[in-house]
Amino acid sequence: MDERRKILLPIEAHLEKAKQLFDASLISDNAMVQLLLEHVKQQTGKMMRPILTLLTARLFGEPTEATYHAALALELLHTASLVHDDVVDESDKRRGQPALHVKFNNKYAVLTGDFLLGLSLQHAAMTQDVEIVNIVGGLGKDLAAGEIIQLENTQNKTFTEDVYYDILKKKTAALFVVATHAGARSVRAAAEDITRVNRFSEMLGIAFQIRDDIFDYSDSAEIGKPTGNDMHEGKLTLPALYYINSSTDPAVKEMAYKIRSKVATATEIADFVAQVKQAGGIAYAEQTMQKFRKDAIEALSPYTTHEVYPALIAYLDYTIGRTK
Ligand code: IPE
Ligand code: IPE
Ligand code: MG
Ligand code: MG
Ligand code: MG
Repeated sequence: MDERRKILLPIEAHLEKAKQLFDASLISDNAMVQLLLEHVKQQTGKMMRPILTLLTARLFGEPTEATYHAALALELLHTASLVHDDVVDESDKRRGQPALHVKFNNKYAVLTGDFLLGLSLQHAAMTQDVEIVNIVGGLGKDLAAGEIIQLENTQNKTFTEDVYYDILKKKTAALFVVATHAGARSVRAAAEDITRVNRFSEMLGIAFQIRDDIFDYSDSAEIGKPTGNDMHEGKLTLPALYYINSSTDPAVKEMAYKIRSKVATATEIADFVAQVKQAGGIAYAEQTMQKFRKDAIEALSPYTTHEVYPALIAYLDYTIGRTK
């Protein structure tokens, strides 16, 4: 059985319903707002967060109306963060199409993101669980703080992995943690079960972003967004950090400072990327994902005989091995 089938087996009908609700929720009585929402609807993503919410709910019970509203709240918040992210990163392509700020402009992108954020909070409220509203609100703060720390980090003179992981936890893993947390709460799972699945999703979420950061070193069209952007934005991700920290050549750190300050030329960046690859930076990041995979699996140890367990493992393996 292929990975996708394994992931979807316990939730196939549930995911269909979630997708329909997602599409149906993106409506407005204003023609311009509707046009912007149509653009968002045309480019559906992989629905990774709703899938995780549904799988978690199935692990501890049967998805409820609250499960669907939580799943929608997260996909909407995720979508809002992408619309804003492409403005912040000055990135022109998303999901194989022009980014919203390219097709329209930055003003429309900021406001469409805000619209999606408002809708996300409404769905959080529709779970009728104040604690879910609270964690979705906190998530919005974490996503923004993660991006702000990342912006600030270009001024940083040190290259520790700690700061990198701090950024990943906030800007990416936090969404996965809330996906399991809200999914579990929506079926009234026990506190110790919530702690376990949240540990799983945090490890998984970090691996998810490491894979995304590796994508930036590739030139596959399948990814559907520009690659080679990170260093041009002054971002040094795990493969580069490994190279910088394992090299004794002072010229390497000098170039790393130049990249962070955004004064490196395109040729210098291309050279640096080649050196990172040559030094095994990608292989190191791949090995690091395996460590997170191991920790993630360990967190699920009480559930190995559950029918949803193989789907969660397939989801984890897809996250690490995915090609888009
Ligand atoms: C992209 O997330 C943003 C990151 C956290 C790297 P996805 O890869 O889940 O994006 P879509 O929703 O499938 O397009
Ligand atoms: C991922 O950061 C986090 C968010 C999108 C919020 P990236 O900037 O690496 O995401 P992509 O690569 O543009 O999807
Ligand atoms: Mg970004
Ligand atoms: Mg980006
Ligand atoms: Mg990226």
